[in-house]
Amino acid sequence: MLKRKDLLGLIDASASEITEILDLAEEFKNRIKKGEKKMSYLEGKTATILFYENSTRTRTSFEEAAKYLGATTINIVAGNSSVAKGETLVDTGKTLDAQRNDFIVMRHPIGGAPYLLAKTVQASVLNAGDGMNEHPTQALLDMLTMREVFGSLKGLKVAILGDIKHSRVAKSNLFGLKTMGAEVTMYAPETLIPKGIDQLGAKLCKTRQEALDGADVVMGLRIQLERQQAGAFPSLGEYAANYGVDKRILEYAKPNAIVLHPGPVNRGVELTSDVIDHERSHIEDQVLSGVAVRMAALTLLNEARKA
Ligand code: CP
Repeated sequence: MLKRKDLLGLIDASASEITEILDLAEEFKNRIKKGEKKMSYLEGKTATILFYENSTRTRTSFEEAAKYLGATTINIVAGNSSVAKGETLVDTGKTLDAQRNDFIVMRHPIGGAPYLLAKTVQASVLNAGDGMNEHPTQALLDMLTMREVFGSLKGLKVAILGDIKHSRVAKSNLFGLKTMGAEVTMYAPETLIPKGIDQLGAKLCKTRQEALDGADVVMGLRIQLERQQAGAFPSLGEYAANYGVDKRILEYAKPNAIVLHPGPVNRGVELTSDVIDHERSHIEDQVLSGVAVRMAALTLLNEARKA
């Protein structure tokens, strides 16, 4: 039984906690597929969605998840709020707490910001991505998608290629997948590999072939040009030619390997269009997994609040 007030990262999530979230998410996903979108697990609860960075998938899927569960949702876009007048994060949190919010879903450009908010407020805080640190519900939805295809995460080989240095998705996946017994290989230009990631359990590879050799899952990560002060490689064309995945490169993975990408995708950079739209691509299915995982996280945190 999940005993947390908040879901901030997977760095300290146990295998039983991850399994509990994935099991419930699988159930919710099946119910959504059958058209069930009105449930009462969060009736009478309020979820505020507080985003200081752009988002399509995460923001909308958290909102859908909370609404499907019967909660009232409030959307705050930082640029339209009192944050733009200089209000601190702590004061914003205190205001939301005074309004008796039950959940605050926050995306923030600074790593660690949700930890500060969680210490300040009584509401349960869900990290929807904090800077280059973690994006726990993205990794959980990735793991749900993999588990549905392969039945188990144990022993899976997951190859992650792309902008690993700036990626919160890579870190949350590494923590979660290692905890669940999967192997994680990584490949990127040296300028996009964060120092010490191998000590966290990733196997760093010297070629695309080495990274993909025998892989069950090929995960592309977006090149985050917005987080790069100086270019980490000469051009997007050269990145695509030397580090991207096309149909020929995909052949290095197992014949039944699946392709994932958290989105948004830079078409033709991390993955070519024929890989994105390949029959082995589960990129669209990841989006539905996202709604289900966020429903599971909200429901289990709500149960933990009652206990
Ligand atoms: N994967 C992801 O976090 O996408 P958004 O930025 O659209 O939320």
